[in-house]
Amino acid sequence: NWHMADFLEAESNRIRNIVGDKHVICGLSGGVDSSVVAALLHKAIGDQLTCIFVDNGLLRKGERELVEQTFRDHFEIDLRVIDAADDFLNDLEGIEDPQEKRRRIGHRFIEVFKQTAAEIKSEIQNSKSDIQFLAQGTLYPDVIESGQGYSGAAANIKLHHNVGGLPEELGFDLIEPLRALFKDEARKLGEVLGLPDAIVWRHPFPGPGLAVRVLGAITRDKLDLLRDADEILLEEIVANNLYRRTAQVFVVLLPVKSVGVMGDGRTYDSVAAVRAVESQDFMTADWARIPYDVLATISNRIINEVRGINRVVYDISSKPPATIEWE
Ligand code: XMP
Repeated sequence: NWHMADFLEAESNRIRNIVGDKHVICGLSGGVDSSVVAALLHKAIGDQLTCIFVDNGLLRKGERELVEQTFRDHFEIDLRVIDAADDFLNDLEGIEDPQEKRRRIGHRFIEVFKQTAAEIKSEIQNSKSDIQFLAQGTLYPDVIESGQGYSGAAANIKLHHNVGGLPEELGFDLIEPLRALFKDEARKLGEVLGLPDAIVWRHPFPGPGLAVRVLGAITRDKLDLLRDADEILLEEIVANNLYRRTAQVFVVLLPVKSVGVMGDGRTYDSVAAVRAVESQDFMTADWARIPYDVLATISNRIINEVRGINRVVYDISSKPPATIEWE
């Protein structure tokens, strides 16, 4: 890791020179890239950094808490957690079309981010500095790739979510410390910076979050079902040492009900699909050969522990022609 330690030193100096006495804001998603950027900037410029984490009500269980513990409690970064779940969920009410979901989420995200940035700006100005920079976790592959690999509106929203378009609208200059790095190098840097394994080795999670994993119209109840099932899946994947061997693992809540028996009674409940893939670049992916006994445990636990789900199916489609997500 000596190479990354050198990089860290040089990059910190470069950032300090660029930033001077100005202020930087950074949108944290909880993913690897933005987390590494936040930790790096904090090391370089300390309290001249403010991070923004938007809770859109579409996060997995414990996600917000992990970000708060890591960045506020451990690194002592000035972290603003914006609770915007009501706004996002209202926007999504009754919306079934995946791209329309993405569009609404993207717009709301920009609204919330802009408003928060404006609030921070006026606070900072009182202390006679000003926000001039927005930090982003752009990686080298993001720089060279022109959006292929993301299908259609997914490409758009990836930009939205990674707050592309925002710096221009807000009038901030961009700081992109990871522009020369590949993902594995960003992870190494994260380790050097002392980020926990749970963040450094985190699977990617789409910007629209659980909104594209509750198929069809979203309700709070469905999100809760999905969250509970997803938590069980992840627990079992981690417990069976499969997390590092898979690229992405998640549950999709299907918009169909099926019949089951529970005790003496008949149930008519939701179906959960388990998706686990292996992939290098997410442009192609193969379904993961999770051992049957692990699948059995996952299925039993979800059906027994999550009231409202009585059937679990395993997705055995590869990409292409299927995509990783279902929406
Ligand atoms: P697909 O489903 O297109 O997914 O095979 C490829 C990768 O992209 C992620 N993905 C998204 N990420 N916003 C994102 O930030 C999106 O709208 C979006 N849609 C898909 C997906 O999780 C996978 O890693």
